[in-house]
Amino acid sequence: MNTEWQSHLLYLDEVHVSYPDSQDNHKVILNNINTKVLPGEFITIVGPSGCGKSTLLRLILGAEKPTRGTVVINGEPVEGPSRNRGIVFQRYSLFPHLTVLENITLGLGLEAFSLLGRYIRPSYRRKRKEFNQKGLQYLERIGLADAADNYPYQLSGGMKQRVAIAQALIMNPKILLMDEPFGALDHATRQEMQLFIQQQWKQMKTTIFFVTHDREEALFLGTRIWVLSHYYQDAHGAKIVVDKDIPGPHPKPDSTKYTTEFTQMLEQIRRDGLDPEYLQRIDEFDLSHRDAYSQLPKNE
Ligand SMILES: Nc1ncnc2c1ncn2[C@@H]1O[C@H](COP(=O)(O)OP(=O)(O)O)[C@@H](O)[C@H]1O
Ligand SMILES: [Mg+2]
Repeated sequence: MNTEWQSHLLYLDEVHVSYPDSQDNHKVILNNINTKVLPGEFITIVGPSGCGKSTLLRLILGAEKPTRGTVVINGEPVEGPSRNRGIVFQRYSLFPHLTVLENITLGLGLEAFSLLGRYIRPSYRRKRKEFNQKGLQYLERIGLADAADNYPYQLSGGMKQRVAIAQALIMNPKILLMDEPFGALDHATRQEMQLFIQQQWKQMKTTIFFVTHDREEALFLGTRIWVLSHYYQDAHGAKIVVDKDIPGPHPKPDSTKYTTEFTQMLEQIRRDGLDPEYLQRIDEFDLSHRDAYSQLPKNE
């Protein structure tokens, strides 16, 4: 057995997704996605609207199955959702009738009490106290200790999104999936949140998959970028057309955004993935990453 392969957290093995369309033909969404991810990577994903970014996240979450191919996590094919994988969406997934603390501890409670049964009172109370303490620690960590008893409507957009992230992180997931999480925030809040998520990622050592429509955000945040696109010659569904390690420290100083290297990478991503006029040939794809599928040995 190849041990190098065992060290991978995620392996997308010839993953293919298609949906029946109105004429009962199959519309291909993802075409043969092959890639591997190591634990602790921060992967940012950009691509034209509708190309299949959310579909890819749903596959990793286990909320959807590939039409062909396999999603493998820690050596096991994914069969469904798991507490090891959390997701944060653009629209805050908080319950309006629960306080911030109740929202944050919701997952812990659901998990424990569905096993224990709500009516085993002493154990319920003890657990509740334990969860609240843990919830308060997380609130401290996200800088919202004073907001424990507030309701979501009392919070700003950025605060709500912090709570949503804490709600996912408190379950200590191995993988955190984020689907345009900062898309609804204003510019200043967005910059704050970019620093915030990098701090959390460093502390928690979670592997993050982060979809954004903002190329600059993608290059600024990630340790590796995927450009998913259906703009290539003979296209039949989206492929990863760029797979690159992003150089530099994490988090990066803000000045990075003004360097020539950064500007050139921005332009390359625009051209290779987002410009419908620029149709690459498959063999010209820039798959320079160590795990790029063109470099995989056959029959692995
Ligand atoms: N359950 C579904 N049935 C049919 N088509 C779907 C389904 N889910 C997504 N699609 C289609 O798949 C494509 C990719 O969708 P999505 O992953 O949401 O793209 P993105 O997140 O990149 O904007 C879109 O054309 C969308 O209409
Ligand atoms: Mg989407």
